[in-house]
Amino acid sequence: AANWKMNKTPTETKTFGAELRRILPKGRWCEIVLCMPAICIPAGVKALRDTRVSIGAENMYYETYGAYTGEISAPMLVDAGVKYVILGHSERRAMGETDGDINKKLIAALEAGLTPILCVGESLEQRKSGITFEHITMQLKQDFQNIPPEQLRRIVVAYEPIWAIGTGKTASAEQAQEVCEGIRAVIRKIYGARPARAVSILYGGSMNAKNCAGLLAQPDIDGGLIGGASLKPDFGQIVNA
Ligand code: PGA
Repeated sequence: AANWKMNKTPTETKTFGAELRRILPKGRWCEIVLCMPAICIPAGVKALRDTRVSIGAENMYYETYGAYTGEISAPMLVDAGVKYVILGHSERRAMGETDGDINKKLIAALEAGLTPILCVGESLEQRKSGITFEHITMQLKQDFQNIPPEQLRRIVVAYEPIWAIGTGKTASAEQAQEVCEGIRAVIRKIYGARPARAVSILYGGSMNAKNCAGLLAQPDIDGGLIGGASLKPDFGQIVNA
């Protein structure tokens, strides 16, 4: 999954879509998602129609409609052709989004039929003080409140260590695997073995065409959430890897 963040205009989205179509990745066994700014979504949906590439949003609000100036609801995204939505990205958590908000957004996204990509991850301070697991376990427990096992299967979890995002400092394959294995263990504890096996876990944080193969070879890393390296069509190389 690509996370474009606040990059690209609708016109640039159209150009990108046309280029990506041309070099469309060979991989048949993975889902491909481009998460983009809301304003780019109509252009993205149009440019990648009839391909295996789905369009995702980067955020949404948990209410369906009403007096929430500037917000976009899950049914609005669905109507626009969106299939996935990133929730709880650390850049949004840093703007004040709480696990309580993220939990409500997860429930609303699932109800509307969207596949949420839930982001969790520790800061450098938390890693240094040895509380990575405690922190991520707490995030998962709060974010999953009142979400039944049959819904859990539809959630994609992305492990994104904050210290690796946009810094060029990728977690080593071993570090990333260790935490992704831990995430699966937490899910197993809460929901049992089947949902834990079924859930897709992505790694995100400076993943690129060079380092992706080592990360993706890990048993508990099922894919990537890619920021900077997803802005060019060679994003297709990562998908192929
Ligand atoms: P990055 O971003 O690949 O630029 O580090 C990843 C993300 O924040 O999802």
